[in-house]
Amino acid sequence: MSPRRKFVAGNWKMHTTIAEGRELARAIRAQLEGVEGVRIAVIPPFTSVAAVAEVLRSSRIEVGGQDLHWEEKGAFTGEVSGPMLRDAGASLVLVGHSERRQYFGETDESANRKVRAALATGLSPVLCVGETLAERDGGRTLEVVGRQVREGLAGLTPDELGRVCIAYEPVWAIGTGRTAAPEQAQEVHAAVRSILRELGGNVADAIPILYGGSVKPDNAPALLALPDVDGALVGGASLKASSFSAIVRAAI
Ligand code: 13P
Repeated sequence: MSPRRKFVAGNWKMHTTIAEGRELARAIRAQLEGVEGVRIAVIPPFTSVAAVAEVLRSSRIEVGGQDLHWEEKGAFTGEVSGPMLRDAGASLVLVGHSERRQYFGETDESANRKVRAALATGLSPVLCVGETLAERDGGRTLEVVGRQVREGLAGLTPDELGRVCIAYEPVWAIGTGRTAAPEQAQEVHAAVRSILRELGGNVADAIPILYGGSVKPDNAPALLALPDVDGALVGGASLKASSFSAIVRAAI
């Protein structure tokens, strides 16, 4: 029996107006009423965080941000800080999502600054890592993911490490309908777990490592049954209350 409670989070990416976000949050709340034994979060775009948090107030469903800046405030046009996200009702934040790395110049170094900023604000950072198809085909998966984990978490104390989550999202599986085979996912999750042990000792056994990349209700049970897969970071399937709820139920 794993010492870790499963964790399922829905990354809404750049979808939903405020009204749509409220509606989706209401539907998810209704469908998951009474569901226990699993940690649940939704991660709307910045504009909807406060409205969604309002809808989910006094429920067990947490709200997160998709990114943050490492400074608390200042002349950084277009950026949103950890304290602002907290103020809007967020308790967690994605850091270093592959779409941020691919399209917006996120690096391991900026991800590390953001992880530290999130922790300093009291937000739980979800550090996203994953290889591209070329990296996998070149046999570099564990090297790339290992570097992303080590550099993203550089300088954290064991206590801080204990407040971090990792999401392994192979880039080639995101939004493509291609999912990592269970043995591919388990191999990388186990490798991440051993790096976490090196970094944080026993704390590593409590750190959730989520899998992301075309997780759907039909493939979720096999992925969530793997020993080192502690949950799912869901994109497309989190935009429908029915499919998101089915994935959450598969985690119990
Ligand atoms: P999809 O589930 O749409 O492949 O997205 C995964 C993801 O990037 C979640 O952060």
